[in-house]
Order: sequence, then structure tokens, then C-alpha cells
Amino acid sequence: MKTAFITGITGQDGAYLAKLLLDKGYEVHGGVRRISQPDRVRLEQLGIAQRIHFHDFDLTEPNGIFRVIRQVEMDEFYNLAAQSFVGTSWELPVYTAQADGLAVVQILDALRTLRPETRFYQASTSEMFGLVQEVPQRETTRLYPRSPYGVAKVYGHYITMNYRESFNMHASSGILFNHESPLRGKEFVTRKITLALAALAHGGSEPVVLGNLDARRDWGFAGDYVEGMWRMLQQDVADDYVLATGVTTTIRDFVRYAAEALDMDPVFDGEGTSETATDRKSGKKILEVSEKFFRPAEVDLLIGDPAKAREKLGWEPKVSVGALAQMMARADYDGLK
Ligand code: NAP
Ligand code: GDD
Repeated sequence: MKTAFITGITGQDGAYLAKLLLDKGYEVHGGVRRISQPDRVRLEQLGIAQRIHFHDFDLTEPNGIFRVIRQVEMDEFYNLAAQSFVGTSWELPVYTAQADGLAVVQILDALRTLRPETRFYQASTSEMFGLVQEVPQRETTRLYPRSPYGVAKVYGHYITMNYRESFNMHASSGILFNHESPLRGKEFVTRKITLALAALAHGGSEPVVLGNLDARRDWGFAGDYVEGMWRMLQQDVADDYVLATGVTTTIRDFVRYAAEALDMDPVFDGEGTSETATDRKSGKKILEVSEKFFRPAEVDLLIGDPAKAREKLGWEPKVSVGALAQMMARADYDGLK
């Protein structure tokens, strides 16, 4: 039986990855930070909370990182914990740098010292491509981050490569494009949309208020992406891989897909902050735009090329963006019943 340690186990990806590894027969350990009201709701939703060995863990506490790596005899270490919300990274830039950048080298260095044979996965991100220098984006595309989050993740990405090259560690970095699910955090745009539309479908009257509707994202299903993470650590040689669908969609079109899944017929009207959407069937206003949700610098277009992952890992995304929007909208509708 293999043993895995997952940081960020209470997050969206941590929960799906823990379920995948338990199903494969792993002993799963997870790092959780101290909060006033412990919340393991995603792990409970997947029915696995009781099967996980929890450890106190905070990305900003190097001694704790060192101790947990000494205590747990792990074969694989998945570093999924992060300050993961791009918008907040402009408000908490130093904390984001510590959690998403410096903590990565603290983990790698503790592994190098205590368990150099442990296989390591770093959660890198398409946000590192930022102002994209090539379309579609692949492993070799030049990085141009556009947020403090993206900048911190670039450090995590390069230090992972550096420890692999310097110390021959099995350290891989997954450059993952946006992936969503019914377990997605409520502030991310997809879940914000599906939750608000589900409430409207139940008779509510509050439109969803969004920012930039023209941004494009390459959205996949988180359940597919954690399978790719695991496959990276099963390779003989560590490497970096893009996981993406190769399809890009505007925020506006994601709203359309989600609304249609809830039997609405959205009609968009106006421009900029005056744009609205109305459901032709009920006549209800379902969307407004506010300056409040625009970002100081935007990533306008993301579209990934997952050819290397397909070829080397045999990895394929299985859920289209339309099916994803439907899955999330229906789950939120049922959840609000
Ligand atoms: P998420 O749902 O926001 O989960 C983040 C996890 O990190 C949570 O378990 C959170 O714990 C934990 N965490 C945050 N700050 C911490 C700290 N200081 N110490 C210890 N734990 C801390 O994020 P996700 O969507 O699962 O993403 C997983 C990873 O992939 C992140 O590193 C993210 O940046 C990266 N990524 C995500 C995507 C995507 O589209 N989802 C794409 C590319 C890369 P709490 O539960 O206590 O908050
Ligand atoms: N969150 C949010 N809220 N985003 C909005 C809104 C809104 O009201 N209105 C428009 N958007 C736009 C954002 O400006 C951005 O262009 C896009 O929707 C997606 O925003 P998020 O869902 O917050 O995701 P993200 O792309 O910034 O970041 C996610 O994906 C990254 C991978 O590219 C996160 O999961 C990151 O952790 C991840 O690295």
C-alpha cells in the first residue's frame, strides 16, 4: 500500500484527489490549517472524511512543514494548498507570495533533507501564462503572469524544476487550466454563476452580479484533472505537463450554458457595465455587471494544448464545458431544494 500526503486536502482538488487515491488503495494523509470552525464539508460530501489521517499544517509555518514530513512515511507528496483566489492576491500580495511561492521551496527542501525519494507534485497554473505569448499555451510557452498570484506560482513552478535538476528529485509540476465542479469555491466565477442561477430557478429574484464577461477560460472538470496529477507521479521520470481541454469559452457563454441547463433562455443586452441578461421565459433579470468585480490586470484568454499529457500520460479530459456547466447548475439546483 502506498502512502500519500496532500496539502490543501479540504479544497476542491484535494477532496477529489483524496477520493481517487483511497479508491486506488492508498493510505491518505492530509494537511489542514487551524481555523476556528473546522470545515471538511467537501470530504464529507464525498463520504471519505473518516478515512483520512489529518495533520496540522500551514503553508506559512516552515517548522510545521519540516515536522510533518519527518513524521509521515510518504511515497508521494501533492502540494495543492494555496491562496488560490486570484482577485484576493492583489489585497494580500505578501501572504500570497509566502503561501504560493516560498512555501514550495520550504516543502522541497524538507523533502530533500528528510525523504529525497518521495515523489512531489506542484500545483502550477495556467494563470502563469497571463498575457499569453502563444496560442494555444503549452509547456514551453513563455510565462507572463498578470497577478500577484500568478507571480508567486511562477516561483513555485521554477523552484520545482530547479530541485528536480539540482538534486535529481522526482518533482513534477502540473500546469493546470481552470477546472471546476460542484465542489468549487463559491467566489470563483463558474460556481458564483451556477449558485445564483439555481436560486433564480427556485423563484429567487437576485441577478448574479459579475465583472468582465469577455474573458475566456479553458474549463474542465476537476475529477478528470486529479487523475492527471496522479499519472504524473507514476512516470519513471518527473516532468511538467499542461492539463487542459483545448476549448476556450467566454464568461458570457458559460452563463448561457448554465442558464439553459436550468430551462432559462438568456438574452443579453447593453455593453460594459450597462450590460444585463434577462430570461426570455420568465422575464426576470438574471445578470448585471459591476465595476467592483473587474481586476486591476486581466488574463483575457486561456486555451491550453494538452498534447504532451495525452501522449505521455494517456490523459484525456472527459467532460465538455457545456456538460460541466450543466453538472454544476443541476447540483446547485438540487442542493437548494
Ligand atoms: P481551493 O479549493 O481554494 O483549495 C485550497 C486549499 O488550500 C484548501 O484546502 C485551503 O484550506 C488550503 N490552504 C489555503 N491556505 C493555506 C495555508 N496557509 N496553509 C495550509 N493550507 C492552506 O483550491 P483548488 O481549486 O482545489 O486548487 C488546488 C491547487 O491547484 C491550488 O494550489 C491552486 O492554486 C491550483 N490550481 C487550481 C486550478 C483550478 O482551476 N482549480 C487551476 C490551476 C491551479 P482551507 O480549506 O482551510 O481554506
Ligand atoms: N471570480 C470572479 N467573479 N471572476 C469573474 C467575475 C466575478 O464576479 N466576473 C468576471 N470574472 C472573470 C475574472 O475576471 C476572470 O477573468 C474569470 O472570470 C475567471 O475568474 P475565476 O473564476 O476567479 O478564476 P481565475 O481564472 O481567476 O483563477 C482560477 O483558475 C486559475 C487557473 O487559470 C483559480 O482556480 C486559480 O487558482 C487557478 O490557478
